This record gives sequence, structure tokens and C-alpha cells, in this order.
Amino acid sequence: MGVQESEPLDVERIREDFPILGRKVGGDVSTPGEGPGDDTPLVYLDNAATSQTPDRVVDAIAEYYRVYNSNVHRGIHSLSQEASVAYEEAHDTVADFVGAEGREEIVFTKNTTEAMNLVAYAWGLEELGPGDEVVLTEMEHHASLVTWQQIGKRTGAAVKYIPVDEQGRLDMDAAAELITDDTRMVSAVHVSNTLGTINPIADLADLAHDHDAYVFVDAAQSVPNRPVDVSDLGADFLAFSAHKMCGPTGVGALYGREHILEEMQPYLYGGDMIRKVTYDDATWEDLPWKFEAGTPNVADGIAFAEACEYLDDVGLERIQAHEQQLTEYAYEELDARGDVTIYGPPADDRGGLVAFNVDGVHAHDLSSIVNDYGVAIRAGDHCTQPLHDKLGVAASARASFYLYNTREEIDVLLEAVDAAVELFA
Ligand code: ALA
Repeated sequence: MGVQESEPLDVERIREDFPILGRKVGGDVSTPGEGPGDDTPLVYLDNAATSQTPDRVVDAIAEYYRVYNSNVHRGIHSLSQEASVAYEEAHDTVADFVGAEGREEIVFTKNTTEAMNLVAYAWGLEELGPGDEVVLTEMEHHASLVTWQQIGKRTGAAVKYIPVDEQGRLDMDAAAELITDDTRMVSAVHVSNTLGTINPIADLADLAHDHDAYVFVDAAQSVPNRPVDVSDLGADFLAFSAHKMCGPTGVGALYGREHILEEMQPYLYGGDMIRKVTYDDATWEDLPWKFEAGTPNVADGIAFAEACEYLDDVGLERIQAHEQQLTEYAYEELDARGDVTIYGPPADDRGGLVAFNVDGVHAHDLSSIVNDYGVAIRAGDHCTQPLHDKLGVAASARASFYLYNTREEIDVLLEAVDAAVELFA
């Protein structure tokens, strides 16, 4: 786009890249886009769950299937070579996007959850035992919390939690006490998908590294929305998903420091991850292919890279600044309504989402009512049940913003929230 980093986003122009944003909703959900009463403009505020996909990413998928659909690393014919080069180069693009050294440090997975399971199984099951500790935060997504909990049960390692304070921030004094020479892994979410808290990952990494522990960063809610550099964070592992960053579903990435990935054994065995196989044994392919057994998700991997290039073209700093403005507006307007409780840190110190409850209105009812206004938000525990237990609620409503959202869309949300309050008053 060639726009200066300091210039605000031209949101109307950006919205043209996402035809879905022009659709209407309502009516019969069994015939998407065609139901009777299907006349309410979509206001899409569920970006933390999944983002929308710009045409050029959709085109990248269609081009793969139309022009060079083929398996990778398995043929010397032209299509296979074209697909292999595009798929391999996609790893380079994703590596660049997060400041990794190169493709050796980027394993394509199904999503963030699979990236966590890869490390938990391939490293955790091998390395952890009784006396070892894994330190998480109380605001972990189930993808991290349940995974390390179960690996702890299987290995005898203890799982400990850094507490979250009243404002939704980590208690770093407690972190300094909890992270000891027994700690082998600190696994922390970068931006909380419920509280919006931006965690001090570099400080956690310093604490962990002082005790020779590794740091795993759940970056599912940060890589899409702000510049993220694995070196600046001090991450040993970092995971994120394409579908939250203008890419397709079904593909994500695990970043791992090369020397650690080299030392780890594969998580899945099979084709494409081997170098030499006999009836008795096998040796492994180079990184990252050692961890990508079987036919990979070629089309979506290539489209993942296209999404990174799209976001780079728009500019991550500008996306972050735009989301910040929207978040502050939504937070302040919701907060001004006396019957709304917002979870997490103040408006000027959070990622681009606001989870809240309205007195006397269940989050699911609220979500249903705002849907009548065309507004898509998420309601539930957002895969953070223990955190919701700590907050004393079973569920919350969550609006989450992205580069194509506008203040006017937030106004529609606010109008719908007011209507819900009126209805339940
Ligand atoms: N983890 C995603 C969310 O928070 C699905 O909505």
C-alpha cells in the first residue's frame, strides 16, 4: 500500500479487501447469506476468535488449487517443485514476521493448540519428572493450561500459577518467588484473550532464564495485532494461529530456538519427516520438516504467508494504534454505563478486546440480543474457565477489534447493549 507507518489506517479502503464485511446477517442460518429477514449489516467484533480473510489471501488459496496443486517434497515434476518452493518460502515469510532466524525455527502446525501440544509431548514428556515444575499464569487459555496440567500428571511435574491481581495483571513479585531452580518451563500468554492484559514476557523470560528454564509464549492474541519479535521477548518457543491474523483456519506456527528444536525428538512419525528408514530404525529430516510428518496443509501454509505480507503491507504499528483507539472508545463508553463490569486492565493498557458483563443479563442472552443488531461478539468462558471462576462469573461477553473495525460499529454494539439492558430491566 505504500502508506507511511505514522499515518492512520484508511479503514474504508481496507474494508474493500474483505467483501464479507459488506454482507447482511439475520434470517435463516441454514442458508447463509440468503435467509428471509437477512437485512442487517454485519458488525464483526469477534476477531479474537477468528479474523476475516482479505481477498488476496483467498486468492492465494484458489491460485494454489487452480494452478499448482501438488504434494510437496515428493516429486520432481514441475507442479510438485512449484508447490514445494512456495510452501518452503512460506516458512521464511512467517519466520521474518516474528523475527526468527529462518525457516529452521518455524514449524507449521494446525494451530496454536497443536504447537503447544507439540512442545508438551516432544519436550515435556521426555524432559519432565517428579521434582520439576512448570509455571503458568492464572490467565492461561485452556490450550496451555490443560496441556501442561495433563503433562504434569503424566510426568509427576508440578504445575504452578502466577496469580492475577485485581486489575488483571500478573503479580510479578509472586512470579519471582514461584520461578526457581525447580522450574523447567514458564508458559505464559502474551495478550490475554479474556482480560486483554499485555503480559511482561521479557521480564518473565529473564526470570526463567536466570533459572535455566525455557519460556513458551502463547502469542495467539498478540502476533495478529502488534509487532512481535521473538528475540525482544526472549522467547524459547512461541505459538500463533493464521486464522486470527487474516489467514486461513487449519494452520499455525510454532517458533522454537533452533538448538532446542534440534535436540527434541519428533512429535509425529511418518512420511516427509524422515531421512533414512530401514526395517529396524529411522533418522530424521532437517528442521523444520522433522516436525511436519505427513502431507502438510500446503494451500493454507502458503496463504498464511500471504496474510503475513498483507499485515506487513498495512503495518503492524498502525494496526495496533487503530485497535488501541477502538478499544479505548469501547471501554470508556461501556464503563460509563453503570451496569457494566469490564474485566482486566484500564483502557490505555490492554490489547484490542473488552470482556464484560451487564448486570442482570447473561452473557449468552446479551450475545443473542446484539446479534439481532447484526453484531457478532463472543459469549462464554473464552477457554479460560479457571480465570472466570476467579472472577466469580460463569461467562462474559467479549468484543474484539481488528484493522477493519470502525467507531460506528462500536456505536451499534453500544446501542444493542442498551437495548438488552432495557429488555431485562
Ligand atoms: N481462543 C479463541 C478465543 O479466545 C478461540 O476466542
